[in-house]
Amino acid sequence: MTGSHDSSHRDRSPHDTRPSVAGGAIPIPGDASRERRESEVVEVPATRSQISDAAQFMHNLSLSPSMKERRPSRNSFGTSLPIPRSPRRSRLSSVYTAEDGRTLSASVTRDILASQVQDMAKEKVQAAKNMAFAFDIDGVLAHGNELIPEAAEALKMLNGDNELGIKIPYILLTNGGGKTEEERCAQLSNILGVPISTNQFIQSHTPMQALAEYYETVLVLGGEGFKVRDCAESYGFKNVVHPKDILAWDPTISPWRNFTPEERAQARPRDFSKIKFDAILVFADSRDYATDMQLIIDLLLSENGRLLTRAKDPVASRIPIYFSQGDLHFPTDHKGPPRLTQGAFRIAIEAQYKALTGVDLERVVYGKPELATYKYADEVLKAWMEEIHNENRIPQNIYMIGDNPASDIIGGNMYGWNTCLVRTGVFKGEGNDPHNPASFGVFDNVLEAVKAAVRKELGKEFKFKWNDKINPVLHGDGDVTAAVE
Ligand code: G3P
Ligand code: MG
Repeated sequence: MTGSHDSSHRDRSPHDTRPSVAGGAIPIPGDASRERRESEVVEVPATRSQISDAAQFMHNLSLSPSMKERRPSRNSFGTSLPIPRSPRRSRLSSVYTAEDGRTLSASVTRDILASQVQDMAKEKVQAAKNMAFAFDIDGVLAHGNELIPEAAEALKMLNGDNELGIKIPYILLTNGGGKTEEERCAQLSNILGVPISTNQFIQSHTPMQALAEYYETVLVLGGEGFKVRDCAESYGFKNVVHPKDILAWDPTISPWRNFTPEERAQARPRDFSKIKFDAILVFADSRDYATDMQLIIDLLLSENGRLLTRAKDPVASRIPIYFSQGDLHFPTDHKGPPRLTQGAFRIAIEAQYKALTGVDLERVVYGKPELATYKYADEVLKAWMEEIHNENRIPQNIYMIGDNPASDIIGGNMYGWNTCLVRTGVFKGEGNDPHNPASFGVFDNVLEAVKAAVRKELGKEFKFKWNDKINPVLHGDGDVTAAVE
């Protein structure tokens, strides 16, 4: 069991460079440029207050959190989770282009008509801009690369296919990850059939870009091929090392490695005996558990992050480890129950570390339901509102639509959002979830949830279709659904 939780450790900032002691916060090295960092990142305390005082529960925190048991976090100690002060803006103007000129001119015509319709329905327009959605992806909009059919209609409606022709703001908030935001949004645009901008998208590791201010050399793990390396570099990490870079230097480091000649060709071997790692970042599901676990344990037990060494006091000289999310399982195209994911991998690491050292592993977990992720979501939502409606503010009525009570729903509830649980993913129950009940309700699919929320905010009669034949001049009596025959 980890040692004491005296108050001096509870609210330690990651800037605190005092040596890590059992039960204390993860120290972040290199405090010299603190002033510069403070202008670029915000440190959000781990949401863990009740838990951190209960040291006897620490090792149980690997279990799903439950509101019923009043365990609101998977972060078990007093560190902070840095997030970017403002959202990263897309480097692409668009990730989705209209297929032909005809589509484009139709949409210009619609925009003109829609603005006339909106001029005559000001109250509804205000209500439409005062609500927003945060969508989970896996189990709500898609299963892997397979669209959940109702999602396409829901997003089309929010993109303007509604009686006002207005965009109702939404963001995607997923615990998925493993590739750059640009690549994932392009892929999602194709799957969902609507344009998804990186400016309305947060994946599990997106807020972790703030850590680039703190760490120079990082081991980044998970995902397909070398994609997490590109991703970490796009976040500004200077020296990014992928496990396969290390295998290319010394394949014997992992006896049960999975390493192809193609991967060997893409790897960047260096003399890793001379390199000091500053942190370990798990961005996505491991595709080679044996190698990834071996390297993580090697570094956690090393003398200050140097491979091939073993520390005399592994706790005092341990480098920090971050996981991008904590879900235990997620829905896939598999016909049976949901499949294990990053949270299960983390539990295995924690167990190995405990068995080898006798102490609990301190670690930071980002993603839903962590407070930092929701705070970052607010920033993204505000910037997205500015982009689509020129209003830099957070709408008041936010609806989180998710399939995982222990992630989407508990996080949304704790953050004060309305929560909708759908039955197309992890949750398949009849009524509401008994541990983390959705505050707005349970729905068969995302379209039903979206319709219920829009009706609540914009009226029961709100039409989920744009009428191309509308003539606002002839029908300027508030009945914006009237058509020209
Ligand atoms: O937990 C794995 C991840 O794929 C879940 O994604 O979209 O359901 O948060 P999402
Ligand atoms: Mg999900």
